[in-house]
Amino acid sequence: MNISIQELNKIYSGGNQALKDVNLEIREGMFGLLGPNGAGKSSLMRILVTLMKPSSGQILVNGKNAASNRGYVRAMLGYLPQDFSFFSNLKTYEFLDYAARLAGMKSRRERSRAVDHMLEEVGLFDVRSRKAGKLSGGMKRRLGIAQALINDPKIVIVDEPTTGLDPEERIRFRNLLARISSQDVIIILSTHIVADISGTCEHMALLNRGQVAFTGAPEELLRQAQGHVWSIYVSEKEYVEVNQKYQVVASVMMKDGWKVTVVGDEVKGYDAEAITPNLEHAYVYFVEHTLKQ
Ligand SMILES: Nc1ncnc2c1ncn2[C@@H]1O[C@H](COP(=O)(O)OP(=O)(O)OP(=O)(O)O)[C@@H](O)[C@H]1O
Ligand SMILES: [Mg+2]
Repeated sequence: MNISIQELNKIYSGGNQALKDVNLEIREGMFGLLGPNGAGKSSLMRILVTLMKPSSGQILVNGKNAASNRGYVRAMLGYLPQDFSFFSNLKTYEFLDYAARLAGMKSRRERSRAVDHMLEEVGLFDVRSRKAGKLSGGMKRRLGIAQALINDPKIVIVDEPTTGLDPEERIRFRNLLARISSQDVIIILSTHIVADISGTCEHMALLNRGQVAFTGAPEELLRQAQGHVWSIYVSEKEYVEVNQKYQVVASVMMKDGWKVTVVGDEVKGYDAEAITPNLEHAYVYFVEHTLKQ
């Protein structure tokens, strides 16, 4: 399995450029798409699942052009849209059965087995007879995840899947995806939560204003931010200055001033010491200090 995204551009009818010259190579395993609000993550995903056409550029799935082979792509796809919502009178298990039928699972017996299995996997078995529309927000989210995975897709595209999940469910969900990704499957997951990526994804891209600001392994992102994160001790007066001049990511009040962590290419005029970045720092560095025209 491989997906090759080539010179992709998307300009919406109002003139909003959501994607700009995006090039990405995606292989089996978990691929994290990280970026702030409005970066273009959902736009990229909608193009990937062939629901939307790019303005220019192309996507190849196993060498085949996705736009001219929509049936081929859709047959192996599981998709959870960011705004997945439903108004359903179906019971939870009926809803999943319906999703399985839509995904082309013809055998009733096979569907029933898949439905029970997915209900267990996402922790909804106990509420399987409750109306889907009456589930809690987090439970609806889990049902959304279940419908995306019901037909053993080869390409899983999940847009902000952990929004609204409690911490325990988030971990459970990450583990579920990690288990699936050990097979010959591509999972693309978008998020703006750095921790969702660092725990599970071997490969990632950071989108910023429609452009790829970084692609590689999360460790590589850290390595490239090395030397751009600083720890400074400042007085009360300097503290205000520093906050105006630099991107402050953390501050701790000390006995006689502040210990401040800032992100930037260089820090002048203060007693600054470069420190080892964590993924949050690296994220801020790439979003705030690269790609600025
Ligand atoms: N249907 C649309 N018509 C016009 N502009 C759009 C449309 N959908 C998205 N945009 C714009 O495209 C840009 C990228 O939006 P997109 O939803 O892809 O970002 P995102 O990275 O998914 O953001 P978020 O983290 O908030 O979900 C934004 O500027 C947005 O306003
Ligand atoms: Mg989005």
